[in-house]
Amino acid sequence: MTLDEIRSKLSTLSLPEGLAWVSHEFGDSAKLSSALGIEDQVITHFIARQNLSIEIFTLDTGRLFQESYDLLDLTRSKYKIAIKSYFPDYKQVEQLLAEKGPNSFYSSVENRKECCSIRKIEPLKRALEGCSIWITGIRAEQSANRGQMELVEWDDQQKVIKYNPLLNWSEQDVLKCVEENKIPVNTLHKKGFPSIGCAPCTRAVAVGEDPRAGRWYWEASSKECGLHKTKEEVKFK
Ligand code: ADX
Ligand code: SF4
Repeated sequence: MTLDEIRSKLSTLSLPEGLAWVSHEFGDSAKLSSALGIEDQVITHFIARQNLSIEIFTLDTGRLFQESYDLLDLTRSKYKIAIKSYFPDYKQVEQLLAEKGPNSFYSSVENRKECCSIRKIEPLKRALEGCSIWITGIRAEQSANRGQMELVEWDDQQKVIKYNPLLNWSEQDVLKCVEENKIPVNTLHKKGFPSIGCAPCTRAVAVGEDPRAGRWYWEASSKECGLHKTKEEVKFK
């Protein structure tokens, strides 16, 4: 099946239907990466409630909020599902800590990207081994870069098909779905954290502020860690 065929099929289906179709077509080589964000929780709900074979994994950077670990626990027990945690290579972490200490990410964009590379990108590569279709919770509204992404696209960095089933959902759509289905979400959302990453790199945002302004808040650069490449980065790679 071509990418265009997959895209045109999935564009006609609702979230639960799309996930069921992907599970049927790709079996357990379909994987959801969950950051335990509100969007990921919505997708997890429909995977679990439909008993789909899609694998769910999270990249445990070792620097997450306690609230995120609490949600991981709650989700595993509420839905009785496995969520596989991928941890960074301890040798790379030990070397980074020995050379630059535990807070190197604050001192330069280069250091921050190095930490994200060790704690997220390398584990992601392992997590996506044997994966034929990678499901994410990305929404177009989240940033200008994400506004250019497609429902189904080719991820040239990971060499895998990427399916962003909530791409065209609004924040209201997500909140409504969470409420209607009583989906558990991170308690930090109510404390002003719309987007949650690692604890030292995320702050709360003010009402009306850009939802991603709290991510790597000390940087002026684009608010991405390298998991999801921008169009330019892909083009000029
Ligand atoms: S990030 O790139 O800025 O960290 P964001 O937190 O908005 O991403 O999440 C977007 C999507 O990227 C999530 O829906 C999820 O699919 C994936 N993702 C981000 N961080 C992780 C993580 N720690 N573990 C697994 N998936 C992640
Ligand atoms: Fe490191 Fe911060 Fe990136 Fe987490 S978000 S991997 S702590 S730089």
